[in-house]
Amino acid sequence: MTTRTAEKTKSGNGSSGKGTDAVKLLKQDHREVEDLFETFEKARSKDRKTELAKKICDALRVHMQVEEEIFYPACRGIVDDDQLDEGVVEHDSARKLIAEIEKMAPGDDLYDAKMTVLSEQVDHHVEEEEDEVFPTVKKSDLDLVSIGEQMRRRKAELGAGD
Ligand SMILES: [Fe+2]
Ligand SMILES: [Fe+2]
Repeated sequence: MTTRTAEKTKSGNGSSGKGTDAVKLLKQDHREVEDLFETFEKARSKDRKTELAKKICDALRVHMQVEEEIFYPACRGIVDDDQLDEGVVEHDSARKLIAEIEKMAPGDDLYDAKMTVLSEQVDHHVEEEEDEVFPTVKKSDLDLVSIGEQMRRRKAELGAGD
C-alpha cells in the first residue's frame, strides 16, 4: 500500500538519533508507522492485531504531539500557515479515529475498516508533509539538528525515545 520504503531507516540500534536532523527523524517515524500498518494488514490473530494496533496508535500519538509542540511551531513563518493548519486538522482527525479504535477489539464491526482508513489518512498526510512541508524547511536556514535534538528529548519524555 505504500511505495515509500526506499529510504527505510530503523532506529533502536543505540547509535541512531544523536545529531540527526528533525526532518530525518520525522521521516524515520513515518517509515516505522508505514511498516507497522503493512504488518497489521497481514496479521490474522486477534492478539497480534491488538498488539500492532496499540503500537501504531501509540507511535502516531507521540509523533503528532512532537510535531505540534516543536516542529510545526518552528516551521511557522517559513511554511505556509494554511499548510500547517491543515496538518493540525489532519492530526485531530487521526486522533478521533485512534480514540475509536482504542475502544474496540479486532473482530468488532468496522474495526478493520477503521484501521484501513487510518492508514489511508496517515499516508495522505505523510505525503503532504514530505512533499510540501519538508522541502521548504530544508531550503530554509532553520537549525534542523537542534530542532531534531529537542524532538528526541521530548519523545524520550513521552516514553518513545530511541
Ligand atoms: Fe503530521
Ligand atoms: Fe509526520
